[in-house]
Amino acid sequence: MDFLIKNIKKLVQIEYEAKEKVCGSQMSEIKTLDDAWLKIVDGKIDSFGKMKDIKADHADRVLDASGKMVFPAFVDSHTHLVYPASREIEYIDKIKGLSYEEIARRGGGILNSAKKMQEISEEELFESAILRLEEIICYGTGAVEIKSGYGLTTESELKMLRVIRKLKEASPMTIKATFLGAHSIPPEYRDNRAAYVDIVVNEMLPKVAEDGLADYIDVFCDKGFFSVEDTERILEAGLKYGLRGKIHANELDYSGGIQAGVKYNALSVDHLEYTGDAEIEALLNSETMPTILPGAAFFLNMPYAPARKMIDAGLPVALASDFNPGSSPSGNMQLILSMASILYKMLPEEAINATTINSAYAMGISDILGSIATGKKANVFITQPIPTYEYMPYYYGTNKVETIILNGEIITNN
Ligand code: NIG
Ligand code: FE
Repeated sequence: MDFLIKNIKKLVQIEYEAKEKVCGSQMSEIKTLDDAWLKIVDGKIDSFGKMKDIKADHADRVLDASGKMVFPAFVDSHTHLVYPASREIEYIDKIKGLSYEEIARRGGGILNSAKKMQEISEEELFESAILRLEEIICYGTGAVEIKSGYGLTTESELKMLRVIRKLKEASPMTIKATFLGAHSIPPEYRDNRAAYVDIVVNEMLPKVAEDGLADYIDVFCDKGFFSVEDTERILEAGLKYGLRGKIHANELDYSGGIQAGVKYNALSVDHLEYTGDAEIEALLNSETMPTILPGAAFFLNMPYAPARKMIDAGLPVALASDFNPGSSPSGNMQLILSMASILYKMLPEEAINATTINSAYAMGISDILGSIATGKKANVFITQPIPTYEYMPYYYGTNKVETIILNGEIITNN
């Protein structure tokens, strides 16, 4: 089956030579084509060009995109979108002034989700998560990473990961699963964290690996959660099973998490509110993608990661939603684009690179997604009529995606 989109006002984020990521000053460049066509064959991008050079303007299916732009679908490389229940009551506590750490100490936060996770059935968990996937598809997301981490017992962690596996089978979205057994310390291990890390490494991880339930491994390496030593133990154990790290680091303090991630060649280190010169130095010349999560910093009123400083130092930056019930109850990547510009002073081009090719790198899929390039998966969206691509971050708060195409098939027409 072939599919032609013609009269595209602007085809955004094209690549003639595929690259795995963009760094530093390259982040402010994106390639576009005006008055363009895009041909999709068997779910993959076959070719594209300018309308004046089009050879055959017929196909099994033809869409006219006059006045509209076509982008590669967003890649959201960090979410926790499988969860048992929302947590808006804690949100009120937060408004009243309690900090994230105080809420966690009182048994709220991640532990609150973990308690509910014990009770919910696998079916209910799946049904609620698939709705969230459908929601983010409407906002233009075509690939998403989903973490476990609200289980905190072997049985519940496996339950979450099985749900993610079912989502992979049921959804047109490209999905990667990350095992996050070390997301929080269960209350019964509060005074014996090492014993819980033992369970993560010796009991959970072998089962996760045996059932092939995870693509990556994560640790929340931060003040009040897991130490550098715990993190290194878990990352090392993960590597023995072929699972690369994608870790939560430096959200609450200069935790050493960034350096630990780099040391174990993590695919990404995420959050990064506390990033100074030493952390930037460690990340330069590494293969680890620094990933900023604007939704969480915004929602928790945290300091913002120094995105400008990182890019100006030559680093690549990826952006993801962190969609989760506690610190970022939104998976809308269009909002992330706007936050990148407004809160982090990233140019629209930098924000587009950070939510497509660089976030695809942070998910280990930049060879197949993250740009409009021949041979890549045809996960793209068509916008409403918009004047410029800068309008995407500028006109914040509404859905500017009109049609989303995943694997060459129209999934939604908003
Ligand atoms: O990425 N920082 C740690 N973990 C999640 C929060 C999850 C939650 O509060 O439920 C995050 O923000
Ligand atoms: Fe997270």
